Amino acid sequence: MIPGLGSSPIRYDMFNLVRDAEEARRLDKCERIYHRGQQMAWDGKEILPMLLAKHGGVKLAPELRKPLMQVFAIILWGELAAWRISSQLADRLVPLEAKMGATSQAFDEARHFYVMYDYLRELDYQVEPLDRAPQALLDLVLKADKLPYKLLGMQLMVEPIALTIFQTVRESGIEPVLCELLRYYERDEARHVGLGMQYLPSMLKEMSKREIAALFAFQVRLMALAMAELKFMEKDLKTIGIDPRTIIDRTRSKQLAALHEALAAVGIDPHEQRNYAAAALNAATEYAFPDESVRHEPRARLEAAWRRFWHQDARRDASEFAVHEHAIKTVHGVQ
Ligand SMILES: [Fe+2]
Ligand SMILES: [Fe+2]
Repeated sequence: MIPGLGSSPIRYDMFNLVRDAEEARRLDKCERIYHRGQQMAWDGKEILPMLLAKHGGVKLAPELRKPLMQVFAIILWGELAAWRISSQLADRLVPLEAKMGATSQAFDEARHFYVMYDYLRELDYQVEPLDRAPQALLDLVLKADKLPYKLLGMQLMVEPIALTIFQTVRESGIEPVLCELLRYYERDEARHVGLGMQYLPSMLKEMSKREIAALFAFQVRLMALAMAELKFMEKDLKTIGIDPRTIIDRTRSKQLAALHEALAAVGIDPHEQRNYAAAALNAATEYAFPDESVRHEPRARLEAAWRRFWHQDARRDASEFAVHEHAIKTVHGVQ
C-alpha cells in the first residue's frame, strides 16, 4: 500500500494480479473482448432504421404481434439487467483486463436495451411490469451481492438463454426486421458469454470447496427459475411457431459448453461433480417439456424424466457458439 493513502479504493495492484501463464492467457482474452467490442460496435440508430427501410417496416400477422411482443418485452428487461450487472462488474472487478471486458459489455448492453425498446415501439409496446416468473430470474442475479454469482448467473446462465431465443427466433423467419436485427445481438452476446468463461475460473480459484458448492446451489435455483420462466413463455413461443423443447435443448448445450470451459480451466471435472439437485431439475424439466414422441404417454414421459436424471451430458466446448458469428455492418464496415 502506498503510505499515507490508507485503504484507498484505487487499486494500484490492478496490473499485476496474474498468478500463472494459464491465467495470463485467460485475462488476455478478457482484454481482447474490450478491443473486439470496439471493433465490432454497430450503431443502433443507423441499423434499425436501415432494416425498417429495407423490409418496408415491420411485417407481422396481427395475431402474432402480442405473443412476439411479450417474449421480447422479457428480453428488453433482461437487457437492462445485463447492462446493470456488467456495469457492476466493471466497477468491482479489479484486474485491468477483466474490468475492460466488463466495461465493453456494459457499452453493448446499453445499445441492446435502447434498440430493443425502439423495435418494440414499432409494435406499439407500452411499458408494463414483467410477470412474476421472468422477473424473479432477473431479480435473483441482480440482487446477488457476490461477483461470482453475478458472473455465473448472467454470463453463463442467462446470456445462453437469450442467445438461444435469438437464434431460434431468427431461424423461424417470423418477422424480417427482427430476424436480421438478432444477428447483431447474437454477435455481441457470444462475446459476453466469453467473458464469463474466461474470468469465472479466476474467481473459482479464490473460493473454498464450500463456497463453490454454495455457488452451484445458487445455479440450481437459477435453473429452476429459468424453467418457470420458460413455462410462462410456453404459450407465446408456440404461437409464434417455436417449440419450447428446442429452446431447452439448445440452452442446455450452450450453458454446459460455457460451464465446462470455465471448470476445465481450474481442473474441475464436471462429471465427477455430479450435482443431484441439478439432475433432479433436469428430470423435472424433461417431464414439464416432454419430447413430442412421449407427450401423450404418462408412463413413457416419466421414464424419459428418470433417464434424464441419470444422464451424463457429453463434454462440450466453446465451438457451440460458432453459430452466432454472423457478418454484421459495424461502424467500421461489414465484418
Ligand atoms: Fe444483450
Ligand atoms: Fe449480453
